[in-house]
Amino acid sequence: MDYRRLGRSDISVSSLCLGTMTWGVQNTREEAFEQMDHALAHGINFFDTAEMYPIKQSADTYGRTEEIIGDWLEARKCREKVVVATKIVGPGSAFPYIRGGETHHTPEHLHAAVDASLRRLKTDHIDLYQLHWPDRATNTFGKLAFEPNPEERMTPLEETLAGLEELVQAGKVRAVGVSNENPWGVMRFQALAEAGLGPRMASIQNPYSLLNRSFETRLAEVAIREDCGLLAYAPVAAGALTGKYLDGHKPPGARMTLWPENRRYFGEQGQAATRAYVDLARRYDLDPAQMAVAFVASRPFVTSAIIGATDMVQLRNNMAATDLTLSDELLADLEKLHARHTYPCP
Ligand SMILES: NC(=O)c1ccc[n+]([C@@H]2O[C@H](COP(=O)([O-])OP(=O)(O)OC[C@H]3O[C@@H](n4cnc5c(N)ncnc54)[C@H](OP(=O)(O)O)[C@@H]3O)[C@@H](O)[C@H]2O)c1
Repeated sequence: MDYRRLGRSDISVSSLCLGTMTWGVQNTREEAFEQMDHALAHGINFFDTAEMYPIKQSADTYGRTEEIIGDWLEARKCREKVVVATKIVGPGSAFPYIRGGETHHTPEHLHAAVDASLRRLKTDHIDLYQLHWPDRATNTFGKLAFEPNPEERMTPLEETLAGLEELVQAGKVRAVGVSNENPWGVMRFQALAEAGLGPRMASIQNPYSLLNRSFETRLAEVAIREDCGLLAYAPVAAGALTGKYLDGHKPPGARMTLWPENRRYFGEQGQAATRAYVDLARRYDLDPAQMAVAFVASRPFVTSAIIGATDMVQLRNNMAATDLTLSDELLADLEKLHARHTYPCP
């Protein structure tokens, strides 16, 4: 495992981060404990969660993942060994049960959300606090085109940054980051921070995998020049890049079997690209998921790849990607496939 600096902060994080969003629905508390024990014992010092987890989100389970992590931190007495990242939801009609349903990145919401997360996590500070998605109309979550919305109620970024600064000053948050962001948002936040209006963004948590390399077109340069590295989520494309869904397979209990409405990785182009990457991995005698994780974690603009697992076999398998160095020949073949299957699942 190697360790990298989170933005310009003094926080060092492992190149793999443990995703947590299955804990509380797909995984039990005991299974989550086993994952955290194993990850920490084998070099992962970085866990990513969110107030809205677990998925699939609901009023009944809201906050449960943070509670599980808090119980584990308390039981293991290891708070200082773990870099804990969590997130505040953005606006949206899907969360009538969060802060009255009108969720925004105002100082008032930021304070309320952080205080509730601290309670659930049973800690007095969050290492990385992230804005889960922008508080404005923009094209994220697979939307290709930007469509301005004259009706939007966007919190001015200055206000958000002022709220984050208060949380840093209060010692409740050490570093801040964005998620599902675009170059405009990251660059505006960094410029405002440089003008003295609040903390710099230390990271960008966006989707990135062999099936979705759109981050490279604009944000990779921003990540490197602004010292604001990518925390790459869904490096195995939510399981698709294992190849287990090919040819119409529906593995029992797997995420896309449980919630087939999530089609991001299952269009015609996504399936063709998946088959090509899985075949390539097999030609090199590699496990497709390990190849996918090793590719993501080794990109120069990536600070950490956030892996998810629903059982210990998956977790051990995907963590072993840290022992894998992709050869120049394989990297060249991956580029050829990327040229043929360009952004199949943005
Ligand atoms: N900021 C955001 O908007 C956002 C969005 C998504 C995720 N995230 C973060 O990123 C983390 C990881 O996301 P992700 O879970 O989508 O990442 P991922 O690593 O691409 O997918 C993980 C899922 O794929 C399946 N899988 C993984 N390895 C496997 C293997 N070797 N064999 C068979 N199946 C395997 C498992 O699901 P099944 O067993 O169900 O198939 C597992 O839960 C989340 O927990 C969360 O912390 C953030």
